[in-house]
Amino acid sequence: MKSEEYMKRVFDLVHQHHEWFRNSIPLIASENVTSPAVRELLICDFQHRYAEGWPGERVYAGCKYIDQVELLAMELARELFEAEHANVQPISGVTANLATYTALTDPGDTMMCLSIAMGGHISMGKKKFGGTAGAVHGLEIEYFPFDETRMNIDVEAAEEKIKQVKPKLVTFGGSVFLFPHPVKELAPIAKDVGAHVMYDAAHVAGLIAGKHFQDPLREGAEVMTCSTHKTLPGPQHGMILCTKELADRINRAVFPGVVSNHHLHAVAALVVTLAEMMKFGKEYASQIIKNAKALGKALYDQGINVLCADLGFTQSHILLADITKYGDGGTIEQKLENANIILNRNLLPWDPRQGRNYKHPGGIRIGTSEVTRLGMKEREMKTIAEFIVRVVVDGEPEERIAQEVAEFRKEYQKICYCFESPIEAYEYISLSSSQ
Ligand SMILES: Cc1ncc(COP(=O)(O)O)c(C=O)c1O
Repeated sequence: MKSEEYMKRVFDLVHQHHEWFRNSIPLIASENVTSPAVRELLICDFQHRYAEGWPGERVYAGCKYIDQVELLAMELARELFEAEHANVQPISGVTANLATYTALTDPGDTMMCLSIAMGGHISMGKKKFGGTAGAVHGLEIEYFPFDETRMNIDVEAAEEKIKQVKPKLVTFGGSVFLFPHPVKELAPIAKDVGAHVMYDAAHVAGLIAGKHFQDPLREGAEVMTCSTHKTLPGPQHGMILCTKELADRINRAVFPGVVSNHHLHAVAALVVTLAEMMKFGKEYASQIIKNAKALGKALYDQGINVLCADLGFTQSHILLADITKYGDGGTIEQKLENANIILNRNLLPWDPRQGRNYKHPGGIRIGTSEVTRLGMKEREMKTIAEFIVRVVVDGEPEERIAQEVAEFRKEYQKICYCFESPIEAYEYISLSSSQ
């Protein structure tokens, strides 16, 4: 292709993506949509600049405004999460985790966390699976015993295992995270055996900021790592909150440990996200959870085996459903995508024992952060459940559902829980007259 053709092709594809999302129901639990103000800052000149090091002590010139912005982000993060220290430099949740492993452990030490099938994340994974903790930092991994009926860490068995294994780091949190983890119960046991306690809030940071989930830093976690773009509806970035005792170690592990420059436009955009959460976060987090519970019930009532019905399905933004009655998670994910309903397949805790793998697992994971941001409430969750049921249970033609989904979406194009703007959620912002 000629260079003009590449130009045309890439803009065409991105425009098509925007149009598709404008007409779809976005239910991926790890995603969200940012406010127009956040998007504006993501394309500011900060994205061209370097600012290695600490504000006021940069390795580069040209940072006098960048420094002030980073200090604003740190101040807001400390205030919102009531943390003694905030580092806003990690460029993603994985980077935040790797920095924390680096600060608190040596290669060869043992970390206890959830396995991936039980909701852990690849950044906590063993070396043999290529996970960050094992393959990059050289940690040995021991799994928390897990109660599959309650979809949570088995407190008594975990207490025993911590005493027996004596890990150097105990990590709570995960990617499938229906209920608060027993930090309060297990952090003292971990500390008794000399372990540090960290909490990976990549998924639930927005719920924590909105005061509608557990409060790990008050419950015994010394470090909380975050992605800033899941329930916290900000730029793709990371952040670490910790006690003042660990601040220097964390800072050094981040820079020069795992970042050189740290995506300054994302830091500016993070300031807006945190300010939005200060003002709208409580209401937003509360509605995300109400929506997740309502969607869980509506799906369950129509025959989808959403896990943990007896526990109200979830206390977070996530639902997990066993979909094996209707096919495997991979096939169902594809059918729903054809119907403009975008969610992802997911391993169930018992899948590995039953011979299923991550490509064709037994489950689907559903998240309500983004649809909530689009202004949807419990009533709309019933409609979404009906669309899903018509595809998965009734096997209606996916193209027909896709058209109905697009019609349904027409009313929900503005972003809620942020400062007013005329820009729509998936509007393409054009800067060059030719595109
Ligand atoms: C529990 C958990 N930790 C870390 C991450 C990694 O976050 P990022 O994609 O920002 O690197 C994720 C991503 O989904 C996650 O679920």
